[in-house]
Amino acid sequence: MRTPFIAGNWKMYKTVSDAVKYVKEFRGLVKDVEGVEIVLAPPFTAIHAAAEAARNSNVGIAAQDMFWEREGAFTGQVSAPMLQEAGARYVIIGHSERRTLFGETDATVNRKLAAAYAAGLAPIACIGETLDQRERSETFDVLDRQIKQGLDGLTAEQIGQLVIAYEPVWAIGTGRNATPAQAAEAHGHIRKRLQQWFGPEPAELCHLIYGGSVKPDNIRELVSQPDVDGALVGGASLDVRGFFEIVTRSREAAV
Ligand code: 13P
Repeated sequence: MRTPFIAGNWKMYKTVSDAVKYVKEFRGLVKDVEGVEIVLAPPFTAIHAAAEAARNSNVGIAAQDMFWEREGAFTGQVSAPMLQEAGARYVIIGHSERRTLFGETDATVNRKLAAAYAAGLAPIACIGETLDQRERSETFDVLDRQIKQGLDGLTAEQIGQLVIAYEPVWAIGTGRNATPAQAAEAHGHIRKRLQQWFGPEPAELCHLIYGGSVKPDNIRELVSQPDVDGALVGGASLDVRGFFEIVTRSREAAV
């Protein structure tokens, strides 16, 4: 069985001092939690301080994005080796806000995934359909394209280590989460495609987590679905006690 994976994506919230205060409290709350991989993704500016505050704890730090080149004249960009040195161990790639607001495509996702692996960062690759696409019954086609093009060229071993976040765009920040059945259906489809395109073993190892309006009161039902191996939590991860609840409830549901 896959270890539940729960990550908090803070998006553009929290300063350095907010982040340090949160991590100091959070690491105390989760110190005895076993059997869940716990990750926090602060903004770039707070990664180093958050990683220092989380040192020798069971909380890992992620970046929310990265650029694929190691260094160069790319004003405003941050590379995977820079994140690694700052203390990040994970990186979110291809979040729908990056795709819709900042022009990310499956091709850029693909380059970033390769660069993350090359630098030793563990990527969390985001996919998911918009409301229009769901209403036109295009969900599976969209997921297929995002998987095929976004993960193109990754090795079986890399797929086995990958975390894929299924985040239906219509469920992000709307308070309208996918129903457990909708999440299970999409995750089942993704797992099937990974089996077909990369083989049964990497497909079995790959973590498929759900994101979109996850809260303490819906996490249990979501993670008890087959193929839902955890969650990528936005708004509800900003509150340290609420996120702790999500972590503990996901563990109870998964055992
Ligand atoms: P919300 O949990 O705020 O809906 O955000 C989900 C998300 O985008 C996580 O990456």
